[in-house]
Amino acid sequence: MNEKPTKEQILGIIAKYGKAKEQLLAILLDIQEVSGSNCVTEEWAQLVAKELDLPLSKVFDVLTFYAMFSIKPRGKYVIEICNSAPCYVSKSEEVAKIFQDILGIKMGETTPDGLFTLLYTSCIGACDQGPVAKIGDKVYGFLNKEKITGIINEYREVVSCQK
Ligand code: FES
Repeated sequence: MNEKPTKEQILGIIAKYGKAKEQLLAILLDIQEVSGSNCVTEEWAQLVAKELDLPLSKVFDVLTFYAMFSIKPRGKYVIEICNSAPCYVSKSEEVAKIFQDILGIKMGETTPDGLFTLLYTSCIGACDQGPVAKIGDKVYGFLNKEKITGIINEYREVVSCQK
């Protein structure tokens, strides 16, 4: 996993939005972005609640309501494999196995380099392209071993170019 931001960095993000309560979503997104673990930890949620003078429960409501947030560490790229009925029928289980074999992790786990987390998701509205997986906003359909290998390599290359 990447380095954890300092308390000063988190305070800087909160200050950038003028400690405005209505900016809660933007603040949490920014914190997640710099987290190095693609999540907003309880420690930071507490800090946000304190600085914005909000109940901690309100911050957690937001963090648990929106699927884009996580309170547990995740990889830089979260691979969500659809396992709703139409995709299941078109072999989402096989697809999950291929991802697990290539990445060397099980569903729900994160690769040791902090790059990928594997999760199941429900229908993402691309049933006609099943089996389907989603990474961020991108949807990948008609998955097979060759395509999956290409996708993983593509993301690894993006990261190595950023170094
Ligand atoms: S069931 Fe998988 S995208 Fe709809």
